[in-house]
Amino acid sequence: MNNKQSLLATLQQSRERVLELLNSLSAQQTKVPYLPGINPPIWEVGHAAFFFERFILQNLDKAPSYNPALDDIWDSFELAHEDRWQEGLFPDKPDTLRYFDDTFNKVKQRIETKALTDSDLYLYKYAIFHLNMHIESMVWARQSLGYAPPPFSLKDTGAENTYPIDHSDVEVPAGRYRIGMPPES
Ligand SMILES: [Fe+2]
Repeated sequence: MNNKQSLLATLQQSRERVLELLNSLSAQQTKVPYLPGINPPIWEVGHAAFFFERFILQNLDKAPSYNPALDDIWDSFELAHEDRWQEGLFPDKPDTLRYFDDTFNKVKQRIETKALTDSDLYLYKYAIFHLNMHIESMVWARQSLGYAPPPFSLKDTGAENTYPIDHSDVEVPAGRYRIGMPPES
């Protein structure tokens, strides 16, 4: 993901996954009960879009906010986890998807038309990885709530599955593990 072509392809794939994740939920399913490990899915989509807006459009281009009144609502540093369940706090699904689309179209156009500097590349990847982390979070939320798996997980990839699928939890033996990058890297 170090050139425009691969950045745009990854951005598009992640965008499609978000839309599939949200659009495959019924209106009732988007009103999720409070659980510490999940987010309301509409808020999560707006939050992921805001990350692109804040770190790319606002930060690099000094672009005005899409809606200044919502900046603190989409910002996870400003809005405590439990507060994300307040009724009427953030826009409904159509308005949130308009914000998501508007932001993604601007980011896509920016990648296509501006020179790809190292610092810009860093921020594009930062926002895409953050989005992908929330895609994973939206998938485990479905599992936590007993919803159907997302449509893209059921698609035939064409690859032959040579391993039996185990739906149980993975056991990790107790012990000390090194995580993250070694300091010299
Ligand atoms: Fe986040």
